Amino acid sequence: MDRYNLAWTLAFFLPVFSAVVLATGPLTDLENIAGKLVFYQMEGNATFVRDTGELASDVPTETMFELFDPQKNFSTAKFTYTWDLGNGKVIQGTEPVVRYLYSESGNYTLQLKLGVNMAKYTPPITGVYSMDVQVLDAIKSIELKGPSDYKVSQNTSLAFHVDGSPPMWVCWRFLTNCVPDVSGGCTLTMLYENTLRLNHTFTSAGVHCLDISVRNDISKLQTSFSLYVRSSYNTHLFFMLSCAAILVATFSFIIVIACRPRHSSRTQIATSSNAMFLKDQDSEGQSKILLKFSGVGREEREPLISQHGTQYSS
Ligand SMILES: *[C@@H]1O[C@H](CO)[C@@H](O)[C@H](O)[C@H]1NC(C)=O
Ligand SMILES: *[C@@H]1O[C@H](CO)[C@@H](O)[C@H](O)[C@H]1NC(C)=O
Ligand SMILES: *[C@@H]1O[C@H](CO)[C@@H](O)[C@H](O)[C@H]1NC(C)=O
Ligand SMILES: *[C@@H]1O[C@H](CO)[C@@H](O)[C@H](O)[C@H]1NC(C)=O
Ligand SMILES: *[C@@H]1O[C@H](CO)[C@@H](O)[C@H](O)[C@H]1NC(C)=O
Repeated sequence: MDRYNLAWTLAFFLPVFSAVVLATGPLTDLENIAGKLVFYQMEGNATFVRDTGELASDVPTETMFELFDPQKNFSTAKFTYTWDLGNGKVIQGTEPVVRYLYSESGNYTLQLKLGVNMAKYTPPITGVYSMDVQVLDAIKSIELKGPSDYKVSQNTSLAFHVDGSPPMWVCWRFLTNCVPDVSGGCTLTMLYENTLRLNHTFTSAGVHCLDISVRNDISKLQTSFSLYVRSSYNTHLFFMLSCAAILVATFSFIIVIACRPRHSSRTQIATSSNAMFLKDQDSEGQSKILLKFSGVGREEREPLISQHGTQYSS
């Protein structure tokens, strides 16, 4: 089960890793000083290289200027760095690295003004490096919004709230009775909003698993839901219970009539029995009892919904 899950996860997420590797861009050679900006993000004790210009919001970030100087022309030079984060914050320093975080998702232009003093009496060489960064919210949760009731052979539209920045790639699959699917395939869809709607018709009763993997450019989350699907047999049982309720009501009605003192007229009997069982003598009153039973039935058959969330990050 574990090995198969791993294989499936790898199959789905491998493109992310290759994207990161491929995105190692060329050197920014706009100015006199060749170099490039490299982004790192720390999540827990893991550090991620973010070379695509996409960053996760609310995560400690480090940007480093990597100087390209194979001939060591600048080995004795003094550097000054002015970092404009594009969110109103400017940080100055003499180290080729800046530490910060973007708390809000959005698009920013990060700009580095570099000054190099080669010798005491020569004017400094300057360079400006900028990078457009797209700050995205990592996918933090996948929440089932509804419905809470599943039946066999019924078109079910399941709605989920996905907490994270779109666009997101979603891959999902239903496992009948939670039996692992050796083929390991899943249905891939692109999500441009935070609501995911999946349409499914359950073919058998019992507990079914729904595996969902969601990723955006900076994170991914895999979750499994257990859904309890009622059989049509339950519907029959429900109907039988309802019939039994009517029978009991009718029977009690007859007993009450039979036990009434003889001097009462028929209409009076009907009124007093109403006070005990039914609000009205007609079928409307009987349907009220039915409704009460349906309420009990629904509570008893509360479906099992559980979410085992495991968060992975690239
Ligand atoms: C990260 O730290 C936690 C404890 O703080 C530890 O259990 C885990 O193994 C660490 N992970 C790595 C990749 O070092
Ligand atoms: C470094 O200096 C050499 C000459 O000493 C020069 O040819 C080369 O262009 C310089 N490189 C840079 C990046 O300035
Ligand atoms: C940020 O830029 C990307 C393209 O680089 C664009 O698709 C996206 O809509 C922009 N987001 C915002 C919030 O402007
Ligand atoms: C079942 O779903 C299909 C497609 O998802 C839709 O066309 C059809 O109208 C649905 N049927 C019912 C009864 O909701
Ligand atoms: C499910 O059906 C709804 C309409 O009923 C549709 O908007 C949605 O795209 C469908 N989802 C999938 C994954 O096909």
